[in-house]
Amino acid sequence: MAISLSLTVNGQPVTAEIEPHTLLVQFLREQRRLTGTHVGCDTAQCGACTVHLNGRAIKSCNTLAVQCDGMNVTTIEGLAANGAMHPMQAAFRDCHGLQCGFCTPGMVMSAVALAHACPGLTEADVRANLDGNLCRCTGYHNIVKAVLQGAEAMQAAEQPAAQPATASAA
Ligand code: FES
Ligand code: FES
Repeated sequence: MAISLSLTVNGQPVTAEIEPHTLLVQFLREQRRLTGTHVGCDTAQCGACTVHLNGRAIKSCNTLAVQCDGMNVTTIEGLAANGAMHPMQAAFRDCHGLQCGFCTPGMVMSAVALAHACPGLTEADVRANLDGNLCRCTGYHNIVKAVLQGAEAMQAAEQPAAQPATASAA
């Protein structure tokens, strides 16, 4: 029996009728055509399916779509703003943090959530916290560089712009 689901996906309100056993990754890929969220293992091991649920990185292959009712889901397609790459996406490009790119959407989504959760990230933080995202190509070195660079760029973008010096009131 189909049940109804209402949630926000990449800032857009969405309602749908789904089977209760529909996984979030199936809903995103098959019903919303958001195919940037990849399926690597289907057993919560590889992180290729990582998306944000209310700002937290989760694996969409072990989350039922119905568990996301009333919540905000962001996928890799929702990161760019006004046609400009998210700073973390730009850092992956600039640091050559990808080869085949299969792991990249999940890696970027995990990295953005980590950078939000841990300002002032260190290399050790990145290596410890991204252990749920596997990459078969890069050897991780450039991914770690990219995450550190992207986190720094995110922090800089969130700083309020410097106020112009005002003339002394005297
Ligand atoms: Fe979800 Fe691998 S497909 S963790
Ligand atoms: Fe190929 Fe990571 S770039 S799996």
